[in-house]
Amino acid sequence: MNRNPHVAVVGATGAVGIEMIKTLEKRNFPLGKLTLLASARSVGKKLKYRGQDITVQELKKDSFGGIDIALFSAGGSISKEYAPIAAQAGCVVIDNSSAFRMDDNVPLVIPEVNAADVKWHKGIIANPNCTTAIALMALYPLHAAFNCTRIFASSYQAVSGTGAKAIAELERQVDQIVNKQPVTREVYPHQIAFNVLPHVDSFLPTGYTKEEMKMENEGRKIMHHPTFRASVTCVRVPVYRAHSVAVSAEFEKPTTVEAALAVLQKAPGLDVVDNPAKCEYPLPLYQSDKYNCAVGRLRKDCALDNGLCFWVAGDQLLKGAALNAVQIAEELLK
Ligand code: A2P
Repeated sequence: MNRNPHVAVVGATGAVGIEMIKTLEKRNFPLGKLTLLASARSVGKKLKYRGQDITVQELKKDSFGGIDIALFSAGGSISKEYAPIAAQAGCVVIDNSSAFRMDDNVPLVIPEVNAADVKWHKGIIANPNCTTAIALMALYPLHAAFNCTRIFASSYQAVSGTGAKAIAELERQVDQIVNKQPVTREVYPHQIAFNVLPHVDSFLPTGYTKEEMKMENEGRKIMHHPTFRASVTCVRVPVYRAHSVAVSAEFEKPTTVEAALAVLQKAPGLDVVDNPAKCEYPLPLYQSDKYNCAVGRLRKDCALDNGLCFWVAGDQLLKGAALNAVQIAEELLK
């Protein structure tokens, strides 16, 4: 890999794409050149990188000549069509969509958990589901110490996960309500402002949603734990950009709150915020714009024989998407 790679951001004008550009800049990624790609609608639009204007170009089949790394975040159908073309052109694709995550030929990576999997890529590396990534930042260190068998979890997912249009929808609905106007909706099947929707992604015949099953399926692959089980309810909440997950986890090895705390305090990319007496616990509002995730409300689970409950929150656009993708690109350069 070129030490100063030419990087392309595919979906550069989207909620995640913008954060990818900012993250490359903030982390001093050793960029040789940056190319910004989006749909024909955005051609000519200018985005700033290190104070310079970069003009957005239209994504085309021949966009990838000379590009070393392409960070994709333009949705699953664009990834399915263009990621193989980019890989064929010699570029390493880091794909934020769900298109390739469960493909046996594609590593699925959270650098704090399975960085070594980056090495066996064949041109495409997948970035995990945002809720899975944030939950595993706290669950994986506990699993490594105590062998997690299964979890029960509920997520509280920000609208940023649905993209820029959903962020605008929440803003608009709040304005409409405050100004006593009729509420309009375009993105979600119900009003999201002042509401919670127990519906993220599409429903499966089992009654779970696709999003809910990502925790088990992607969790197994990332943690190299083929028997891991997860029963999850995913909920969309009127929060702009950080997800929270309430987890009850059962373990094989005996656990205590003290031992778990010691493990979590050493975990990379994770802060422990756990002082209920002072009303201190992770809050999505305060996790926004932060690289680290935060865990708190750690306690012995009273309904499992050897279980722990905790609450983990993290910025959906960063650890759930752009930051994790840039960290994977950093691994490629090591
Ligand atoms: P554009 O802004 O030109 O529509 P979000 O997830 O925030 O909705 O962002 C989606 C991103 O994917 C945007 O950058 C969007 O570009 C891009 N995108 C959507 N459709 C296409 C397409 N057909 N070709 C290239 N990029 C696309």
